Amino acid sequence: MGNYKVGIIGCGGIARDHVRAYSKIPNVEIITGAEVDSERREKFAEDYNLKTSYESYDEMLDKESLDLVNVCTWPKTHYDAVCKAACSGVKGIMCEKPMATNLDEADKMLEACRENNVRLAIGHHHRFDPQLVKAKELINEKVIGELVLLWGHCSLDLLNNGSHVVDMINFLNNDQEAKWVMGQIDTRNKRKGYVNHPDMVAEDMALGRIFYKNGVRATVELGEFAPQTWQFHAVGTDGIIDVNVPDGPSLRYMSTDTNGWVVPELESCDPRNAEMVELIKAIEEDREHISSGKVGRNGLEIIMAVFESSRSRRLVELPMDVKDNPLENMMK
Ligand SMILES: NC(=O)c1ccc[n+]([C@@H]2O[C@H](COP(=O)([O-])OP(=O)(O)OC[C@H]3O[C@@H](n4cnc5c(N)ncnc54)[C@H](O)[C@@H]3O)[C@@H](O)[C@H]2O)c1
Repeated sequence: MGNYKVGIIGCGGIARDHVRAYSKIPNVEIITGAEVDSERREKFAEDYNLKTSYESYDEMLDKESLDLVNVCTWPKTHYDAVCKAACSGVKGIMCEKPMATNLDEADKMLEACRENNVRLAIGHHHRFDPQLVKAKELINEKVIGELVLLWGHCSLDLLNNGSHVVDMINFLNNDQEAKWVMGQIDTRNKRKGYVNHPDMVAEDMALGRIFYKNGVRATVELGEFAPQTWQFHAVGTDGIIDVNVPDGPSLRYMSTDTNGWVVPELESCDPRNAEMVELIKAIEEDREHISSGKVGRNGLEIIMAVFESSRSRRLVELPMDVKDNPLENMMK
C-alpha cells in the first residue's frame, strides 16, 4: 500500500471512529482536520497530534496536500464538502451517511468525483458486518431456496439509521435495482434537528415497501416502535434467515433441509476498519468501493421515494424524477 495523508472534515463523534479505523492501517496518517466548533477542533487536534487544524474546510483543502478526505459533518454539508474535496486533488473520499439530503446533491457529488477520477465511498460500514456478509452468502448459495422477501427495521428516521437499513437490504439483494417504492411516514412531532442531524428535518415513523427488478420484495420499518438492533429477516421459498435477533445469535437460519435453527460460525471483522481498507484498495485497484457513491445514491433514491410516495399517496416508479427532498417540502 502507498502512503496516504488524510484530512477529516467535521471533528465530532463519528470522526473519532474514523481515526481509530485508520490507526490500524500502515502508511496512513491523519494530518489535519476542519471543524467549526473551536473547542472540538482544538481537542481533536490535541488528541490525535494533528499538525494543523482549520475552522473552514475550504481553507484546509486549499492549503493541504491530501490523498484522502473523510467527510464527517452533518448531512447538509456532505454535498459541498465532497464536491470541493473532489476538486482539490485527493484520490479518495469517505463520506458519512446519509450520502446527501436529496438526489440533486447526490448526482452532483457523483459527477464531481467522476470528473476528477476520485473514488467516493459512503460510510455504510454494516456491509462489512460478518453476519450480514454471511447472510448474503447463504442467500446466494440458495440455502433458503429462492429469495422472496426481505424485512429490516431500526430506530430513528429514514435518513439516519434508515440509510443503513435500506443499504443493508440492497446489499442482501445483491444491489439489484428497485422497480418501485411505496411508503408512508408519520410527521406528528415535526422533528427538526433530531439527534445528531441538527441541520435536518425528520419523520417520526416510516414504512417503506420496495419491489426490485428481480422480483424480491422488501419492507423497511423505522421509528420509535422499531428497536435499535438492525434486525433483518430474509424469507426464501425453502427457509428463513434471521440477522441480529434481540437476545438471539447474530445470525441463524432454518430451511426444509435443516433440523431446526442452524447458527453458522462467523469470521471476525472490524467493519469500520474494513471500509477504510476497501477505500485504499479501490484506489489502488482502480475500481469502485463496495459501498460506492453510486450504491449510496441507489439507497438514497429509495428513501426519497418513500417520502415522495407518502406525499403523493401513490407508488413511485424508479428512477424517480423528483430531485429535491419531498420530506422537507412536506414539512414546510
Ligand atoms: N456510519 C455510522 O454508523 C454513523 C454513526 C454516527 C454518525 N454518522 C453520521 O456522521 C455524520 C456526523 O455525525 P456525528 O454523530 O459525528 O455528529 P457530531 O455532531 O458529533 O459531529 C459532527 C461535527 O461536524 C461539525 N460540522 C458541522 N458543519 C461543519 C462544517 N461546515 N465544517 C466543519 N465542521 C462542521 C460539527 O461542529 C460537529 O462537531 C452524520 O451524517 C451522521 O449520520 C454515521
